[in-house]
Amino acid sequence: MSPDIRVSVIGHGSIGRTVADRLFSGAMPGVTLVSIVDSAPVTNAPVPQVDLDKAIEISDVLIECAGQSVVFDHAEAILGAGRGLVISSAGALSDPAFVARLQACPGRMLCTTGAVGGLDLLGAASDAAPFDSVAVQTTKLPGSLVQSWMSEERADEVRSTQSALTVFEGGAEEASRLFPRSLNVATAVSFAVSDRDLVQVKLIADPAATLTRHEVIARGPVGNYQFTLENLPSPENPRTSAIVPFAVLRTLGVLLGRTGLIG
Ligand SMILES: NC(=O)c1ccc[n+]([C@@H]2O[C@H](COP(=O)([O-])OP(=O)(O)OC[C@H]3O[C@@H](n4cnc5c(N)ncnc54)[C@H](O)[C@@H]3O)[C@@H](O)[C@H]2O)c1
Repeated sequence: MSPDIRVSVIGHGSIGRTVADRLFSGAMPGVTLVSIVDSAPVTNAPVPQVDLDKAIEISDVLIECAGQSVVFDHAEAILGAGRGLVISSAGALSDPAFVARLQACPGRMLCTTGAVGGLDLLGAASDAAPFDSVAVQTTKLPGSLVQSWMSEERADEVRSTQSALTVFEGGAEEASRLFPRSLNVATAVSFAVSDRDLVQVKLIADPAATLTRHEVIARGPVGNYQFTLENLPSPENPRTSAIVPFAVLRTLGVLLGRTGLIG
């Protein structure tokens, strides 16, 4: 019998906690959760909290659920050591030179689809012929869109808006840089259509947005696609949709070659 795949989770927050709990409770046969990495002390982890070097040493696959900086600072070391890496913070991969360096490493990385779907269809259509236009419009609760780089006045305006307010319009790369924890979806769509310059992003703060809404509209030579995804925010972190940890677990399954009848 082949030994279990050893997995560590980086970031024990709203995504990482659910991922770790599920793996610990045996949700994925043949996979053993061996450690948690977090820059803050974790009191309720089901397995030991270790530093990243130790996690790389004892794991076959690491799952990033922490933020873009972990990808910037540590993805090369993880993949360079031949470990697999599941990435939640897809927005960290907007620099093609960085991505090329990571892809040259012996370890395999895969970004989760996270809060968005339909990427298989967009990918297939873009393989057939490049899209003419792709737009992603994301609507979230205002409080989750306030950023540290905003002026106090702008932050107040966003936080206290009583109606839908556009906080950003532009390209996917700029979107993920300015809203690093909120616009991984736009990056995921840009990966699916293999063109990071094509995707136009609009981000709306709406106090009525009890569900986080992503509208994807793509038009091209083989078809026009328009779909709306509405996700319940995570109860612990309104920036994150509750679906994301489950998408991360499916991505782990894909990385490990455990696909179902469709994939
Ligand atoms: N792909 C998607 O659709 C999607 C959706 C939501 C969030 N995300 C990404 O996932 C990340 C995590 O989301 P979350 O809701 O779980 O966040 P969270 O804030 O609830 O948890 C993040 C955890 O990571 C830890 N952490 C932060 N920096 C770290 C570091 N340098 N090293 C180790 N641990 C570190 C924090 O202490 C915290 O425990 C977000 O920052 C975002 O980039 C992706």
